[in-house]
Amino acid sequence: MKVTVFGIGYVGLVQGAVLAEVGHDVVCVDVNQARVDDLEQGIIPIYEPGLEPMVKSNFEQGRLNFTTDAKKGVEHGEVIFIAVGTPPDEDGSADLKYVLAVASTIAEHMQDRKIIVTKSTVPVGTSDKVNAAVTAKLKELNKATEYDVVSNPEFLKEGAAVNDCMRPDRIILGTSSAKAEKTLRQLYAPFNRNHDKVIVMDIRSAELTKYAANCMLATKISFMNEMSNLAERFGADIENVRKGIGSDPRIGYQFIYPGCGYGGSCFPKDVQALIRSANGVGYKAQILEAVESVNYAQKEKLFSYIMRHFDNDISGKTIALWGLSFKPNTDDMREASSRVLMEQLWQAGAKVQAYDPEAMEETQRIYGLRDDLSLMGNKEQALKGADCLVVCTEWQAFRAPDFDLIKTSLKQPVIFDGRNLYDVEDMLERGLHYYAIGRGKSLEGKVL
Ligand code: NAD
Ligand code: UDX
Repeated sequence: MKVTVFGIGYVGLVQGAVLAEVGHDVVCVDVNQARVDDLEQGIIPIYEPGLEPMVKSNFEQGRLNFTTDAKKGVEHGEVIFIAVGTPPDEDGSADLKYVLAVASTIAEHMQDRKIIVTKSTVPVGTSDKVNAAVTAKLKELNKATEYDVVSNPEFLKEGAAVNDCMRPDRIILGTSSAKAEKTLRQLYAPFNRNHDKVIVMDIRSAELTKYAANCMLATKISFMNEMSNLAERFGADIENVRKGIGSDPRIGYQFIYPGCGYGGSCFPKDVQALIRSANGVGYKAQILEAVESVNYAQKEKLFSYIMRHFDNDISGKTIALWGLSFKPNTDDMREASSRVLMEQLWQAGAKVQAYDPEAMEETQRIYGLRDDLSLMGNKEQALKGADCLVVCTEWQAFRAPDFDLIKTSLKQPVIFDGRNLYDVEDMLERGLHYYAIGRGKSLEGKVL
């Protein structure tokens, strides 16, 4: 089947690659010429396990092509995905300008029937706006081309995006058009082999399903972070509590890891956008507001520990930082907890010596060259001469470090662990001062 994907980001590029991998003929369109040029030379703009070989082999075999030529893209695809960004605007609502611009572009160039599929995460009611944008453009150009608008939200996780798209848990289709449903079932048939993962529903429910899923997961995390704050005050260990409640299948082990806050391009933005959408229909989303405010506070927690440890003066201190990306296996820094921490440390006059396996380039791009940020070649170098170590992201490479080296490299044997990677007793036995999240003993009875 001929498919076009607008937007070559995390979602668009992975979607394009996996559709090509199963044999579809895919054209990906972006406004970013440099990105298209890079891809044509085999340079992949994002780090995502398994993506590079898949993109390269499908490009070489001619099933996956990249262009900035929107007209060519629209003419190519029977099915056209919109996978452009929906960043927060000033008040936190989802900004739809890229989505609606693509809708209008599709209308401008389409000459035969198209199925326009919204894959971007968009507020309930956006399909009506996409419809209106397409209709207005067709009217302006005096065209009567037929089309369908379908909502098909994406549930991939960064760091596991290729696998998530090759083996989706569910394929949500928001449509009332039998014709569009039939075509999209054919498109997705290779991913829908063992049991039927396609769930067809009305378009508004499909749009809300995406927000509900992300908000539920964010709620689990903020709930656990709240429990970790209680555990600290009660002198309990949240890691024991996590295992204790996760063993109940009604709760489950997933997404109950406490930490220094959730980040990424989805949870913070989508929780905020749903709060704003709720306001728009006269409803105060109290749970979501609490989820958001717990997360804000959690992102400031490591800084509070550090200030407390150094008697509120870190001016001139050097902080070793392991982990910059918002989670492991990605180079994405959007809303990363490390950014909140680094900005607070700089504000307080400290320097940061950081290492991340994949996100150093992205950090450099965001912050440029500055005297108070040194990006180090490996995790050991980041420790040298630093006053303490902070861990913000649970990359595998940080799970079993050489603790003797940590002790001898740092000026003070102290670790601030935002992801609860280490054993509290072991740290105490090794003579390391260990601050973690929600672990009564690690704080030695001191609560912030
Ligand atoms: P991204 O910022 O990585 O990529 C968006 C791309 O769209 C950019 O390359 C940009 O240049 C391009 N673009 C903008 N305007 C365009 C236009 N008019 N024509 C063609 N291309 C254009 O974004 P992303 O992370 O891939 O997210 C895309 C959407 O998917 C968002 O709505 C997001 O909420 C949703 N989503 C993201 C994830 C994720 O993990 N990143 C997961 C599920 C859903
Ligand atoms: C999320 C959703 O999981 C995915 O389904 C959706 O399509 C896009 O948004 P992603 O943002 O890639 O995916 O990462 P995810 O693994 O969900 O982690 C998000 C944040 O939550 C990270 O900062 C992570 O560190 C944090 N997290 C996750 C926790 O703090 N605790 C947990 O138990 C799980």
